[in-house]
Parts: sequence; C-alpha cells; structure tokens
Amino acid sequence: MTNLKKRISNSNHRLAWHIQPPTGLLNDPNGFSYFNHEWHLFYQYYPYGPVHGLKSWYHVTSKDLIHWESHGIALYPDTPYDSQGVYSGSALPLNDRNLLIMYTGNVRDQAGHRQSYQNYALMSAKGTITKERHNPIIQRPDNVTEHFRDPQLIQTEHGYYALLGAQRRRDLSGQINVFKSTNLHHWENLGFLNFTDIRMGYMIECPNLIQVDGQPLLIFCPQGLSQKDLAYDNNYPNTYLIGNHADLDQANFDAVGHQLTLLDEGFDCYATQVLKTPDGRALAITWVGLPDMHYPTDKEGWSNCLSMVKELHIKNGKLYQMPLVALSQLRQNHQHHVKTMMANTSQALIGSNSYELQLTISADQQGQLKLMTNQEGKLGLTLKFDTKSGQLTVQRQCFTQTSTEQRTVSLTSNKTLKLRIFVDHSLVEIFVNNGERVFTQRVFVAPEQTLIKLVSTQQLTYNSDYWDLQSTV
Ligand code: FRU
Repeated sequence: MTNLKKRISNSNHRLAWHIQPPTGLLNDPNGFSYFNHEWHLFYQYYPYGPVHGLKSWYHVTSKDLIHWESHGIALYPDTPYDSQGVYSGSALPLNDRNLLIMYTGNVRDQAGHRQSYQNYALMSAKGTITKERHNPIIQRPDNVTEHFRDPQLIQTEHGYYALLGAQRRRDLSGQINVFKSTNLHHWENLGFLNFTDIRMGYMIECPNLIQVDGQPLLIFCPQGLSQKDLAYDNNYPNTYLIGNHADLDQANFDAVGHQLTLLDEGFDCYATQVLKTPDGRALAITWVGLPDMHYPTDKEGWSNCLSMVKELHIKNGKLYQMPLVALSQLRQNHQHHVKTMMANTSQALIGSNSYELQLTISADQQGQLKLMTNQEGKLGLTLKFDTKSGQLTVQRQCFTQTSTEQRTVSLTSNKTLKLRIFVDHSLVEIFVNNGERVFTQRVFVAPEQTLIKLVSTQQLTYNSDYWDLQSTV
C-alpha cells in the first residue's frame, strides 16, 4: 500500500480540487446528503488497484461542497448480506442524530450466483456507522432477476419511497422498481415505474428522481439501450427525462412531450446522483468514468474521479447544469481579453492546467479552441465551433495517442456561443451556453502541455476571462 501511494503521488494526472481515490478505483457517488451541518458524500471504492474488486463505501465531508475532507472507508463488505461488495445506494437524514443509509449488498452464493440485498446502515452525528440487524430490508420481487440494485431513498409528505434499478424477469428489460414505506420497516412493492414506452435496454442502474424548479426530473443509466432510441457514443449512457408530473403512489412518471436525453455530451459520465438541499436547490454529482473502461492512470494504480458538484435548473422545458457559485473562491490571477483576431492567425495563453476559462464567441464565427496543447501542436482536447451552423465538436486525443475521437452537438444556429471550461490536470468540464449542454471527460497529456490556443481562418471576435484555480488538497 505504501508503495502504491508513493507511485500515485508522482502522477501528473492527480487532480487539484476534485474528489479522487487515494489509491485504487473509485466509481459511483453514493449517499450524497446534508446531515449534521455538513455535506456528506460516499463513493464506491476498491483500494488495492484500478479494478472493480470488492467494493466498500469511502466517506468524505465538506462545509462548502468545494473543500472535501477524507474519512476513509465507512462501509465494508463484512456481513452475509454484502459479502461480495457494498454496492451503490443513498442516504436520508432522519433527524440531527441519524443518517439512514440504504445500499445494495452484493453476494455470490456457493454456486457463484449473484444475490442482491437491499440493506440499511445508520450513521450517528459522530460518524459511527452501524448496519441494521434485520438486513435485508426489501425483498426482491419474483418478477425481477438478481439484477436489482442502487436504491434511492426519497421522503415526501406521503411517506418514504425507494427507487431501485431492476431487470424484469419476463423479458430481461431494464426497469425502475418503486417501493413505499410509512415507517421505514415495512416496504410495499408498488411495481415498475411507468415512465416510457421505449425499451430501456437490459438493465437500469442508478435511478434518481428529484424535483427541479417545480418539475420532476428522472436521471438513470439504461444499459443496452438501442441506438435507435437515443444516439449515444459512450458504451453506457447516463440519461434523463423531464416529467410533467410524478405520482409515486401510482408508480407513474408522466413524461409526455419530453424526450429521453443524454445528461452529458462528453466521453466519461455515469451513475450521477442527486440531492435536494435544505434550501430547496437540486444538486448533482457524477462519476467521471464508465463501466468496462480502462484509463491511462491504471498503470499508476488508481482510476477515476468525481465531477464537480453541479446545480440543476429547468427553464422552458430544458435542463441546465451549472457550476456552484462558491467555486469562484478558488479563482486567482485573473486575465481578461476582448479581441478581434485577424484571419489565419492564432492567440495563445499559457495555462496552469488548473484553471477556469470563459470564452464568448459572437454569432457567425468559426474556429478551434485547443486546450492542453503545446507549441509543437501536440493534442489534448480541441473544441471546433461554428456559431453560424450551431455545430460544436469536442475532439479528444485517444488514450493510445494514435488517433482522436469526437462528440458533436447541434446548438441554436446564428447565436453567440458561451463556453465555461474547467481544467483540472486530467479532467475537463465544459459548460455550454449557461449549462444547456455539458461535456465531461478525462484528458491525459504530458505535463508541459498547458497551452490554450484559439485558431481561426476567419476574423474572430471574442472575449475571454481566465483564472488559475487554487488546489484544495
Ligand atoms: C454502476 C454500478 C451499480 C453498482 C455499483 C457497483 O456503476 O454497477 O449498479 O451498485 O456500480 O460498484
């Protein structure tokens, strides 16, 4: 372990202000909650290497959602109901003294068959966690296979609900199973959530329901979704549906008139978890990574990270994801430019690879913004924009370095393009037009690739703001 830590501390790809595993592998955010005057967050964790091994929950807390304090592993796979992994789940503060955690216990029986149990654990204000003696607390219905996991605990004025990702036995389709309880002891099965006519692949992972600006929002990860139903390029998409109305007692989510949409247009985004804050805001945090993927840091003994916490809004039927206002406390060394650049020229700025860049480009312009490049033109991430047609393409250097891969979105044509970009060494988060679209991805370059370059074959009018961002570690 000491050797692993030493190797990791020499990495160029460690992050300055995002949550990352001390060693080994991180995946889904879990138990995102506000309890006892602090923000709590856990994540799926395997300490001994960059593999999906025996999972635990790692615990971090924060006073401002920007600076995070580590508390180590909080939930171990140490009971007969979670012996092969403490899988994903959520947390709900019951009062000032108790945070109720509901998680999936992954178990393999003697024959190697998977069993999925839904369990409770209780965290006290002092941070002591006790698993419930009467686990498991929700029985798997007979019409669901062993793929039954990732409970989201919800409290409303009508009672408690748990949403679970499930695979229906009859047709092996992805479903969201709704349960209700009035006392948190007995859970009633209300059936599968009625929210779409589209076949949601063979499994839905990590379902999350939240009210955003008065409208219900359902975020989930359908595995095996047909490309005919939604165009996506990542192996597994993280998607959302806005609803007109949700009635959990009827297991109904009315999304008539709304389309299944990608939550993030970037290369790495999965298992997003949401939180309703005590003052009514809707927050989200995402695993920046994907199942079944390998990353260049694997050879350094660690893998993956979490995104920044984002605030969600719905305006005119559209979802917006925004960085937190509090993030501006990390800013330093401001540089502001308003410029008209001549055709066939370029502008360059040496960045620190821990920065925020805001760029506004007028309508009717074309060009490229190159991030994490160098004087020799080595590639990191390139944004190709055409504000006349509204096309925006994000191109990433493949991890093998031999080719590039890209993701494209169509924005409103003939409109000013506003980019807000956060670079943290090997993580780039791009917010387009006030969070109307987001691209989240890892980018792995050599330490000297810190150049930001704007290139155009036309005259280009833009204004930009740049700040270095301080480290929080
Ligand atoms: C999603 C997921 C969850 C599961 C967890 C295990 O990435 O597969 O469905 O609970 O990861 O680590």
